[in-house]
Amino acid sequence: MPTLKRGQTVELDIEKFADKGKSLARVNGYVVFVEGAVPGDRVQAYIHRAKKNYAEAKLDTLIEPSDLRTEPRCRYADTCGGCAWQHVDYAAQLDAKRQSVEEAFLHQGGFQSVDVPPVIGAEDTFYYRNKMDFDFSADRWLTTDEIDTGKDFDTDFAVGLHVPGNFFKVLDLQECHLQSAWSAQFVNALREFVKAKGWAPWDIRNHEGYLRHLVIREGKRTGETMVNLVTNGYDAERMEALADFLQAEQPEVTTLVNTIHTGKSQNPQGDPRVIFGPGVIHDEIGPHRFEIRPGAFFQTNTAQAERLYEVARDFADLRPNDVLYDLYCGAGTIGIFMAEGVQKVVGAELVESAVESARTNAALNDADNCTFEAGDLKTLFTDDFVDRHGRPDVLIVDPPRAGMHKDVVAQIAALRPERFVYVSCNPQTQARDLGRLREAYRIDAMQPVDMFPHTPHIENVVRLARVEA
Ligand SMILES: C[S@@+](CC[C@H](N)C(=O)[O-])C[C@H]1O[C@@H](n2cnc3c(N)ncnc32)[C@H](O)[C@@H]1O
Repeated sequence: MPTLKRGQTVELDIEKFADKGKSLARVNGYVVFVEGAVPGDRVQAYIHRAKKNYAEAKLDTLIEPSDLRTEPRCRYADTCGGCAWQHVDYAAQLDAKRQSVEEAFLHQGGFQSVDVPPVIGAEDTFYYRNKMDFDFSADRWLTTDEIDTGKDFDTDFAVGLHVPGNFFKVLDLQECHLQSAWSAQFVNALREFVKAKGWAPWDIRNHEGYLRHLVIREGKRTGETMVNLVTNGYDAERMEALADFLQAEQPEVTTLVNTIHTGKSQNPQGDPRVIFGPGVIHDEIGPHRFEIRPGAFFQTNTAQAERLYEVARDFADLRPNDVLYDLYCGAGTIGIFMAEGVQKVVGAELVESAVESARTNAALNDADNCTFEAGDLKTLFTDDFVDRHGRPDVLIVDPPRAGMHKDVVAQIAALRPERFVYVSCNPQTQARDLGRLREAYRIDAMQPVDMFPHTPHIENVVRLARVEA
């Protein structure tokens, strides 16, 4: 039976970080996961969920702060979903991320022991993102500070980020330190413009309104900027007015695109209309230049992507006669980054437009030894695929958070390329997949790289050594 009940407030000593940025405390052995707390804190926490084996709580009062705490830079740090760990010292964030990789391999992968080196941290812990997705909402969340001012706020309009766990309400962000100083001021300027025009924000409950999402992409190394406004329908007059405004007042914007999304889901699909500019931007990773299309995946932290790809390249131990497979290749960036060290690169990826970008990117970088195929790897990565392209000497995979489909894992086990590097943004599924491959490969080395300071997310690269029969 749980020793704690929902609605109760309890005093806790926080032991360590746990999954998803929460921290862990115990009451007579009963585990409590606490949001907003840091190891070493003594806190008063409010229990909002009590189950048989554990409870979930929110920090209510900080009785004694941990030495691992630091002053957040942003006024929204306690409320916003963008940065869960701004109140945690950066060195402590990196330690916690290293520990999370270790625990994933011990608990999800079932490995007996694992040697995880210190995380490669980021030089820039703010203004590191090249892409931000903001939401419009007809339901604004007011912070405690805003309520305490006693002022009247327009709660029918917000553009910013969601409050964690709240599907409807959005914080109307006046500042954000994730992308750039320009991007934060741009959100404010755009808010003023659309409010003056009377354009309605999306009402998630009633599925009405015009403005849905605002996606800002910046080429960190090129200075190019794309604004993608996602709207419920196309309105030529409004787009013309917005284009005029941006070109007159925000000359940093090199291209404006408009994605039309009339469905109820919050995930826009479909190709956007180009309103002005080329409809794409470029960024650079190392000496390579890449085209970025509006909906395409591109590593969000340009500077750290270079570190990540360098680690993957070192782990791949490339040789001039190698056939290299780059699976889940997105816009072809990993393969192109390594192309000059090998005979041939074969990339495969689900999203057709990403594959088109990969071909453009290969041409942009004079990498004429790269070929790309579009398709779901579950059905694409077959013996026929291998017959078409030749057996790989080195395999690099970089799947989405869900990890690899078990048929892809089975094909890797059957092919057993000599060198295999697994890049992942989710060590839990990476550990699971590598646990399934332990008859074919053993872990030779790993290296976590921090792509997302102030969040619990961590990217991990593993080098596998083939188990000889
Ligand atoms: C983490 S991204 C990696 C992209 C690229 N390696 C990079 O560094 O930019 C994962 C990619 O896998 C693709 N993807 C997701 N599911 C897939 C599937 N079932 N088959 C093939 N590709 C898939 C996504 O579209 C995305 O581009």
